[in-house]
Amino acid sequence: MRERERVAIFDTTLRDGEQSAGVSFTLRDKLDIASRLAAAGVDVIEAGFPSASPAELASVRAVAESVRSVSICGLARAVPGDIEAAVEALHGAAHPRVHVFVNASDMHLAHQLRKSREQVIEMARIAVRQARSRVAEVEFSPMDATRSDPEFLAELVQAALEAGALTVNLPDTVGFILPDALGDLIENLYTRVPALRDAVLSFHGQDDLGLATANALTAVRAGARQLEVTVNGIGERAGNTCFEEVVMALRVHGAALNVETGVDTRAIWELSKLVEERSGLPIASNKAIVGKNAFRHASGVHQDGVLKQRETYEVIDPAEIGHPVGTEIVLGKLSGRAGFAARARSLGFVLSGVVLERAFVRFQELADRKREVADDDVQQICDAVAADAA
Ligand code: KIV
Repeated sequence: MRERERVAIFDTTLRDGEQSAGVSFTLRDKLDIASRLAAAGVDVIEAGFPSASPAELASVRAVAESVRSVSICGLARAVPGDIEAAVEALHGAAHPRVHVFVNASDMHLAHQLRKSREQVIEMARIAVRQARSRVAEVEFSPMDATRSDPEFLAELVQAALEAGALTVNLPDTVGFILPDALGDLIENLYTRVPALRDAVLSFHGQDDLGLATANALTAVRAGARQLEVTVNGIGERAGNTCFEEVVMALRVHGAALNVETGVDTRAIWELSKLVEERSGLPIASNKAIVGKNAFRHASGVHQDGVLKQRETYEVIDPAEIGHPVGTEIVLGKLSGRAGFAARARSLGFVLSGVVLERAFVRFQELADRKREVADDDVQQICDAVAADAA
């Protein structure tokens, strides 16, 4: 059996996650989230964008000084002042990483940066070299990589590698690319830039088309060994690739992909709740992995299945993510006899034959009027049926 390759988890909840409209983490939030991420086993924590403000620099510094078991990263534009700010913020880090980015698509070059391709290559070269002269771990991101000209993208990546970047991250900045096109882009980049094989390839997805997780998995198939993610998928606009989704997808499909992460998945639930509380962004009930309904079964057919064998309708054991309740049968108008009888049994009523039928008729009458039938309701139904039979 081949040994599985490690996919590093680069968490940017504190940087790109905080770019969610309306989110502003306090220093306490940043320290609490960072220490929980480190304990969960992520590899890199992007703690912020130090040049953005003195307070941001101070919070990155505080995270760097207090969380010492993983790499702490600061984001920097490809300009000297940003790199110095990042280096200063990371001074106390055990494993400092500077993440240099520069716009790469022609649209960004023309309308935002207003620089030529040659100038951008020079900026990247100088910035990566400067960062590499100050810290050992340097990551380079050609922003809007997925909408960039492939030939120019290759030149830019080549220049960053020559200047000393050890990780090359491909940002799908506006969540644009389709999974198969991303696979082709990466294959093409490896062909044009053979030296990329000696670096770590990373992928940074945004979820504008709901494709961030699918794209991250495609990137892994194509050779990426680092994924940039945020807890609950928070982030700019529609958010980033979800930490919990990629970690669990890589766990469920790890054997097929021959990869693994270092994350202790049992930390996922609490981490997600912490980020929900501190960000103020509520998690949708139907959110994969961490939504309220992720392990709740409402229809008769599914309830019957999970009662017989959980795996019939679940691909993840809720205990694997540290779920406090586990698989749940939710009684309502779509529930069948199996779900109802199981709940009655858990309350001490063993129903069968004609008694079960009578109780079930009463249950259905109630379920038509109520969204969720509670234990008290089931108790009352069973008591009434028992009284009738006496
Ligand atoms: O979305 C993006 O392009 C980014 C980069 C700076 C990695 O956040």
